[in-house]
Amino acid sequence: MNIAQTNFLISSPELAGCPETALPEVAFIGRSNVGKSSLLNMLTNRKELAKTSSRPGKTELINYFLIPKAGHLVDLPGYGYARKSKERRDMFASLITEYLSDREQLKHIFVLIDSKIPPQQIDLDFILWLADLGRPHTLLFTKTDRLKKAPLQKNIDLFRETLGEHYNPLPEMILTSSKNGGGKSETLAVVRESFK
Ligand code: GTP
Ligand code: MG
Repeated sequence: MNIAQTNFLISSPELAGCPETALPEVAFIGRSNVGKSSLLNMLTNRKELAKTSSRPGKTELINYFLIPKAGHLVDLPGYGYARKSKERRDMFASLITEYLSDREQLKHIFVLIDSKIPPQQIDLDFILWLADLGRPHTLLFTKTDRLKKAPLQKNIDLFRETLGEHYNPLPEMILTSSKNGGGKSETLAVVRESFK
Protein backbone atom coordinates (compact mmCIF):
# COMPACT_ATOMS: atom_id res chain seq x y z
CA MET A 1 0.00 0.00 0.00
CA ASN A 2 1.60 3.25 -1.13
CA ILE A 3 -0.10 5.89 0.98
CA ALA A 4 1.91 8.74 -0.58
CA GLN A 5 0.11 8.12 -3.88
CA THR A 6 -3.31 8.82 -2.38
CA ASN A 7 -5.46 11.04 -4.56
CA PHE A 8 -8.86 12.65 -4.33
CA LEU A 9 -11.39 10.59 -6.29
CA ILE A 10 -14.95 11.89 -5.93
CA SER A 11 -17.43 13.55 -3.57
CA SER A 12 -20.95 12.27 -3.28
CA PRO A 13 -24.04 13.65 -1.54
CA GLU A 14 -25.63 10.18 -1.45
CA LEU A 15 -24.85 6.49 -1.09
CA ALA A 16 -25.86 5.89 -4.71
CA GLY A 17 -23.02 8.15 -5.86
CA CYS A 18 -20.28 6.16 -4.11
CA PRO A 19 -17.85 4.32 -6.42
CA GLU A 20 -18.99 1.01 -7.83
CA THR A 21 -15.87 -0.96 -7.11
CA ALA A 22 -14.61 -4.07 -5.40
CA LEU A 23 -11.89 -2.11 -3.57
CA PRO A 24 -12.23 -2.15 0.22
CA GLU A 25 -12.59 1.12 2.13
CA VAL A 26 -12.19 2.58 5.61
CA ALA A 27 -14.09 5.64 6.84
CA PHE A 28 -13.31 8.49 9.24
CA ILE A 29 -16.14 9.91 11.29
CA GLY A 30 -16.68 12.03 14.38
CA ARG A 31 -18.18 15.28 15.58
CA SER A 32 -17.75 18.36 13.46
CA ASN A 33 -14.34 19.98 13.92
CA VAL A 34 -12.83 16.93 15.67
CA GLY A 35 -10.06 16.81 13.05
CA LYS A 36 -11.13 14.17 10.49
CA SER A 37 -9.86 15.99 7.42
CA SER A 38 -6.61 17.02 9.16
CA LEU A 39 -6.00 13.41 10.16
CA LEU A 40 -6.42 12.22 6.57
CA ASN A 41 -3.86 14.78 5.45
CA MET A 42 -1.47 13.67 8.19
CA LEU A 43 -1.85 9.97 7.34
CA THR A 44 -1.20 10.61 3.64
CA ASN A 45 1.58 13.20 4.12
CA ARG A 46 -0.46 15.65 2.07
CA LYS A 47 -1.13 19.12 3.40
CA GLU A 48 -4.30 19.85 1.51
CA LEU A 49 -5.70 16.58 0.28
CA ALA A 50 -8.83 16.95 2.42
CA LYS A 51 -10.08 20.47 3.07
CA THR A 52 -9.87 21.54 6.71
CA SER A 53 -11.36 24.51 8.50
CA SER A 54 -11.42 26.06 11.95
CA ARG A 55 -15.17 26.50 11.43
CA PRO A 56 -17.18 23.31 12.12
CA GLY A 57 -19.24 21.80 9.33
CA LYS A 58 -16.66 22.07 6.54
CA THR A 59 -17.06 18.56 5.12
CA GLU A 60 -20.59 18.15 3.75
CA LEU A 61 -20.23 15.24 1.36
CA ILE A 62 -18.88 11.70 1.37
CA ASN A 63 -15.35 12.29 0.05
CA TYR A 64 -13.39 9.44 -1.53
CA PHE A 65 -9.60 9.24 -1.68
CA LEU A 66 -7.97 6.43 -3.62
CA ILE A 67 -4.82 4.63 -2.57
CA PRO A 68 -4.03 3.05 -5.94
CA LYS A 69 -4.55 -0.71 -6.09
CA ALA A 70 -5.13 -0.84 -2.31
CA GLY A 71 -8.39 0.79 -1.24
CA HIS A 72 -10.29 3.96 -0.45
CA LEU A 73 -10.08 6.36 2.49
CA VAL A 74 -13.45 8.01 3.10
CA ASP A 75 -13.89 11.40 4.80
CA LEU A 76 -17.43 11.81 6.15
CA PRO A 77 -19.31 14.93 7.28
CA GLY A 78 -19.21 15.55 11.04
CA TYR A 79 -22.19 14.60 13.15
CA GLY A 80 -23.90 16.89 15.62
CA TYR A 81 -23.04 20.31 14.31
CA ALA A 82 -25.55 22.42 16.24
CA ARG A 83 -25.42 25.51 14.08
CA LYS A 84 -26.65 23.74 10.98
CA SER A 85 -30.40 23.96 10.56
CA LYS A 86 -32.32 20.95 11.86
CA GLU A 87 -33.22 20.02 8.32
CA ARG A 88 -29.56 19.95 7.25
CA ARG A 89 -28.57 18.05 10.40
CA ASP A 90 -31.19 15.41 9.69
CA MET A 91 -30.02 15.18 6.09
CA PHE A 92 -26.43 14.50 7.20
CA ALA A 93 -27.59 12.05 9.85
CA SER A 94 -29.54 10.02 7.31
CA LEU A 95 -26.66 10.16 4.81
CA ILE A 96 -24.21 8.86 7.42
CA THR A 97 -26.67 6.26 8.76
CA GLU A 98 -27.37 4.93 5.28
CA TYR A 99 -23.69 4.83 4.33
CA LEU A 100 -22.57 3.11 7.54
CA SER A 101 -25.43 0.61 7.53
CA ASP A 102 -25.45 -0.34 3.85
CA ARG A 103 -22.06 0.20 2.24
CA GLU A 104 -20.67 -3.26 1.54
CA GLN A 105 -17.12 -2.20 0.70
CA LEU A 106 -16.75 -0.55 4.12
CA LYS A 107 -14.35 -2.70 6.17
CA HIS A 108 -13.48 -0.51 9.12
CA ILE A 109 -14.61 2.72 10.77
CA PHE A 110 -12.36 5.13 12.63
CA VAL A 111 -14.35 7.10 15.18
CA LEU A 112 -12.54 10.31 16.10
CA ILE A 113 -12.86 11.68 19.61
CA ASP A 114 -11.52 15.06 20.74
CA SER A 115 -8.98 14.29 23.49
CA LYS A 116 -9.25 17.81 24.93
CA ILE A 117 -12.77 17.45 26.23
CA PRO A 118 -14.61 15.17 28.67
CA PRO A 119 -16.78 12.35 27.24
CA GLN A 120 -19.67 13.65 25.09
CA GLN A 121 -23.00 11.84 25.03
CA ILE A 122 -23.25 12.10 21.25
CA ASP A 123 -19.92 10.24 20.83
CA LEU A 124 -20.90 7.54 23.32
CA ASP A 125 -24.28 7.08 21.61
CA PHE A 126 -22.67 6.88 18.20
CA ILE A 127 -20.08 4.28 19.28
CA LEU A 128 -22.75 2.11 20.92
CA TRP A 129 -24.89 2.36 17.78
CA LEU A 130 -21.92 1.25 15.68
CA ALA A 131 -21.23 -1.67 18.01
CA ASP A 132 -24.88 -2.76 17.70
CA LEU A 133 -24.54 -2.54 13.94
CA GLY A 134 -21.63 -4.98 14.19
CA ARG A 135 -19.23 -2.81 12.18
CA PRO A 136 -15.53 -3.16 13.15
CA HIS A 137 -14.19 0.13 14.51
CA THR A 138 -11.25 1.81 16.23
CA LEU A 139 -11.37 4.96 18.34
CA LEU A 140 -8.86 7.68 17.49
CA PHE A 141 -8.31 10.38 20.09
CA THR A 142 -7.42 13.57 18.20
CA LYS A 143 -5.45 16.75 18.99
CA THR A 144 -3.37 15.04 21.70
CA ASP A 145 -0.68 17.71 21.15
CA ARG A 146 -2.98 20.24 22.77
CA LEU A 147 -2.90 18.79 26.28
CA LYS A 148 -0.16 17.94 28.76
CA LYS A 149 0.25 14.27 29.59
CA ALA A 150 -1.68 14.25 32.90
CA PRO A 151 -4.90 15.99 31.75
CA LEU A 152 -4.80 13.98 28.51
CA GLN A 153 -4.61 10.70 30.41
CA LYS A 154 -7.37 11.88 32.72
CA ASN A 155 -9.74 12.50 29.78
CA ILE A 156 -8.92 9.16 28.23
CA ASP A 157 -9.36 7.25 31.47
CA LEU A 158 -12.71 8.96 32.00
CA PHE A 159 -13.77 8.11 28.46
CA ARG A 160 -12.79 4.44 28.89
CA GLU A 161 -14.62 4.31 32.19
CA THR A 162 -17.81 5.90 30.81
CA LEU A 163 -17.91 3.84 27.62
CA GLY A 164 -16.92 0.72 29.55
CA GLU A 165 -20.15 0.88 31.53
CA HIS A 166 -21.96 -0.21 28.37
CA TYR A 167 -19.25 -1.70 26.18
CA ASN A 168 -17.08 -4.68 27.06
CA PRO A 169 -14.36 -5.42 26.04
CA LEU A 170 -13.54 -1.89 24.87
CA PRO A 171 -12.55 -1.32 21.23
CA GLU A 172 -8.98 -0.50 20.25
CA MET A 173 -8.00 3.12 20.95
CA ILE A 174 -5.15 5.12 19.39
CA LEU A 175 -3.81 8.52 20.50
CA THR A 176 -3.26 10.77 17.47
CA SER A 177 -2.10 14.25 16.56
CA SER A 178 -2.22 15.75 13.10
CA LYS A 179 0.29 18.34 14.29
CA ASN A 180 3.07 15.96 15.36
CA GLY A 181 2.16 12.75 13.55
CA GLY A 182 1.26 10.86 16.73
CA GLY A 183 -0.58 7.59 16.12
CA LYS A 184 0.22 7.54 12.41
CA SER A 185 1.91 4.13 12.16
CA GLU A 186 -0.67 2.48 14.46
CA THR A 187 -3.57 3.88 12.43
CA LEU A 188 -2.01 2.92 9.10
CA ALA A 189 -1.45 -0.60 10.42
CA VAL A 190 -5.22 -0.88 11.00
CA VAL A 191 -5.89 0.47 7.49
CA ARG A 192 -3.51 -2.09 5.98
CA GLU A 193 -5.09 -4.92 7.95
CA SER A 194 -8.59 -3.82 6.84
CA PHE A 195 -7.58 -3.86 3.16
CA LYS A 196 -6.31 -7.47 3.29
P1 GTP B 1 -15.64 19.09 9.65
O1 GTP B 1 -15.26 18.74 8.25
O2 GTP B 1 -16.12 20.49 9.78
O3 GTP B 1 -16.56 18.11 10.28
O4 GTP B 1 -14.30 19.12 10.55
P2 GTP B 1 -13.12 18.06 10.62
O5 GTP B 1 -13.44 17.01 11.63
O6 GTP B 1 -12.75 17.58 9.26
O7 GTP B 1 -11.94 18.94 11.27
P3 GTP B 1 -10.71 19.64 10.53
O8 GTP B 1 -9.70 18.62 10.11
O9 GTP B 1 -11.21 20.59 9.50
O10 GTP B 1 -10.02 20.42 11.77
C1 GTP B 1 -10.74 21.33 12.57
C2 GTP B 1 -9.76 22.27 13.29
O11 GTP B 1 -8.97 21.56 14.24
C3 GTP B 1 -8.75 22.95 12.35
O12 GTP B 1 -8.56 24.27 12.80
C4 GTP B 1 -7.49 22.12 12.54
O13 GTP B 1 -6.31 22.86 12.28
C5 GTP B 1 -7.58 21.72 14.00
N1 GTP B 1 -6.90 20.43 14.23
C6 GTP B 1 -7.21 19.25 13.65
N2 GTP B 1 -6.40 18.26 14.08
C7 GTP B 1 -5.55 18.81 14.98
C8 GTP B 1 -4.46 18.30 15.80
O14 GTP B 1 -4.11 17.11 15.79
N3 GTP B 1 -3.85 19.19 16.61
C9 GTP B 1 -4.21 20.51 16.69
N4 GTP B 1 -3.54 21.29 17.53
N5 GTP B 1 -5.21 21.03 15.94
C10 GTP B 1 -5.88 20.21 15.09
MG1 MG C 1 -13.71 17.74 7.45
